[in-house]
Amino acid sequence: MTSPRNVAVLVGSLRQGSLSRQLAQALAAMAPPSLRLTIVEIGDLPLYDPDLDTDSPPAPWARFRERIAGCDAVLFVTPEYNRSVPAALKNAIDVGSRPYGHSVWNGKPGAVVSVSPGAMGGFGANHHLRQSLVFLNVPVLQQPEAYIGGADKLFDAQGGWANPATREFLGRFLQAYERWVQANAATAG
Ligand code: FNR
Repeated sequence: MTSPRNVAVLVGSLRQGSLSRQLAQALAAMAPPSLRLTIVEIGDLPLYDPDLDTDSPPAPWARFRERIAGCDAVLFVTPEYNRSVPAALKNAIDVGSRPYGHSVWNGKPGAVVSVSPGAMGGFGANHHLRQSLVFLNVPVLQQPEAYIGGADKLFDAQGGWANPATREFLGRFLQAYERWVQANAATAG
C-alpha cells in the first residue's frame, strides 16, 4: 500500500471551543486511510509585514512555511467573519504566499469547508477564500461544496455526532476530496 497523503488542515478560528476546530477534528477522525489530516496552527503567526520578510524572517513564519511546503494537500475549515475570511486565516495565507515566487501553496490540491451556526453556512467566507486560492494556484475541489450551517447542533454534549445527515454528507465530501488529492497530486510543488 502506498503511504497516505499528508493533508495540512487550517482552522480559521483561534478560540477554544471553536465549532470549526471541532469539525476539523471530526473530519480528521473519519478521513479515509489514504489521507492523514493534521491541523497546522496559525494563531502564533505575526501579521504579515514585508519589511520583516528578510533572510531571517520571524521563526513562526519559517516553521509554518516549512510545514505547508512538506504536505501534499491543504484543507481549510473556517468560520465566516463579516461575510469574509477571518483575519487570522487570511494572514496565514499571506505568510505562506511570500517571498514572491516561493509560495508554499502553489499546486497543492485543496478544499474548503465553511462553518456557521447560521443557515448560510459561511458561504461568503468560502467564496472569498476561493478567490485567493485561484490566485495562489491551489486547485480547489468544486463539488461537493461544503457550507456547513447549524454547526452549533452538529455534536452532542459528549462530542458525538448529533446530525447523521451532515456526517454522511461529510463522508461523501471526504471521498471526493481523496479522489481530488490523488488526481492533482502530481502538480503539487
Ligand atoms: C461572526 N459570526 C458570523 N457568522 C456568520 O454566519 N456570518 C458572519 O458574517 C459572521 N460574522 C462574524 C464576525 C465575527 C467577528 C465573529 C466573532 C463572529 C458568527 C460565527 O459564525 C460564530 O461565532 C462561529 O461560532 C465562529 O466559528 P467558531 O469559532 O465556532 O469556529
